[in-house]
Amino acid sequence: MHRKKFAVAPHSRDEAIGRSTLRSAFDHPGRSLLVLALVAAIAGCQRDESTPIAPRGADLVAASDTRMNPATLAEGKKIFRFDTYGDETFWTDTLRMHEVISTSVSPVTALSVGLKVDANALPPEVKAGIANKSIDLNSPATTATLLKLGAVVGVVGTVEGNTLTRVGITCALCHSTVDDRITAGIGSRLDGWPNRQLNPGAIIALSPALTAAQKAVYNSWGPGKYDARFNFDGKNDPTVIPPAYGLAGIHGETFTADGAEVKYWNRYVAVTQMHGQGNFSEPRLGIDVKQSPDLVAPLLDRLQAYELSLQAPPAHSGSFDATAAARGQVVFAGPGKCATCHVGNLFTDANVRLHPTSEIPTDATYALRSATKQWRTSPLKGVWQHPPYFHDGSAATLADVVEHYNTSFTLKLTTQQKADLVEYLKSL
Ligand code: HEC
Ligand code: HEC
Repeated sequence: MHRKKFAVAPHSRDEAIGRSTLRSAFDHPGRSLLVLALVAAIAGCQRDESTPIAPRGADLVAASDTRMNPATLAEGKKIFRFDTYGDETFWTDTLRMHEVISTSVSPVTALSVGLKVDANALPPEVKAGIANKSIDLNSPATTATLLKLGAVVGVVGTVEGNTLTRVGITCALCHSTVDDRITAGIGSRLDGWPNRQLNPGAIIALSPALTAAQKAVYNSWGPGKYDARFNFDGKNDPTVIPPAYGLAGIHGETFTADGAEVKYWNRYVAVTQMHGQGNFSEPRLGIDVKQSPDLVAPLLDRLQAYELSLQAPPAHSGSFDATAAARGQVVFAGPGKCATCHVGNLFTDANVRLHPTSEIPTDATYALRSATKQWRTSPLKGVWQHPPYFHDGSAATLADVVEHYNTSFTLKLTTQQKADLVEYLKSL
């Protein structure tokens, strides 16, 4: 448990970030070109008649309409995978990650902190070179090549000649992985799957711009975890990176349902965590970030449409015992009392109610830091795919989850009932 309060002024870091992103584009001609290019790209998209954009304030119903349009989905996918919202100002200008990557991050190092390589972005000769080892995976120069090819999932780099000059991150960094079809960490993208090998804290801690105390906090998080509130409240209590799939129809995203639609959180993360350029205001948390022009807002509808199109992966037949799962379903609805909160096809009552922390047998710290201060019942489709479980990863397996509920809620389930319930959860 890392619940120690972090006293080293995270706010001052944030203010520094604010300054660097707010400063005038005229002071930084390179940046103004970037801004112009992005603005032009966005403006271009908006004028494209084939891509209707949901009206402002559109709810999930409208989002599911745009979801049907393949052109909108294709753009949303591109945004999800490749848009940095101008966050290079943070990852390059503030954290100087381009220097670290150029000097000390070989592909082997990158893979060891959980970064993934998109095999489909690699030309045949590069794939062959990796296979026959003629390409040196221990050289940072190879990382620059992979970035130039757009092959590092969730990391976008500008390479001039052989020099990495700008680097930024995208949503895919944390919410995509690959199927390892070439080798571990190299394969086809799986969007929406949480990257539970990624160690965002260890990556950020490589920055030469941080103090030793800040690095110690980032290094304490571990793989698959990130604290999306640390830079505001200074508390060190990371959550697992959740899936971004299976969310269609659920009003209330994140562990604590801070917003009523996915767009709310996308804006939160893009502006306050990735440090993209845009606005985010949340009076309940005292957050009010304004940066002009807003590079995030015009992309949110398409991004949301793509996210809501991402389905939870079905369980492989053979990965669970179907007969036991059928018995487990009865336990889920009956003596396990699971269906009182994990209701309906979405396996959550999030559209109806949230739960005070006193009702839920997990550590309350994180919920109390959120806007709602309550828990949202986690949707369970595809739950087989992403151990460990609960917001803090405190249950390593589904058997641990069941055991934890059995004890906390005094369910008195038999060994057989618990085993059947686990098989049912594996089948969802
Ligand atoms: C550095 C890692 C990281 C990046 C980058 C990131 N996220 Fe997340 N995301 C998280 C974490 C951690 C949470 C859990 C926060 C919480 O629930 O309070 C989360 C939560 C979510 C959720 C809620 C899922 C649910 O179960 O309801 C969605 C949707 C999401 N992110 C989408 C995005 C999108 C879209 C982007 C890009 C704009 C993005 N994320 C960028 C780490 C990340
Ligand atoms: C009182 C409401 C409630 C009941 C009853 C309940 N859950 Fe949950 N469940 C939640 C909430 C809220 C969470 C998220 C808690 C957290 O992450 O700390 C959750 C999380 C989970 C998770 C983890 C999901 C993930 O993505 O990590 C699983 C699995 C789960 N519940 C299964 C069950 C099973 C099986 C039962 C019955 C034995 C059950 N739940 C009973 C509300 C409930």
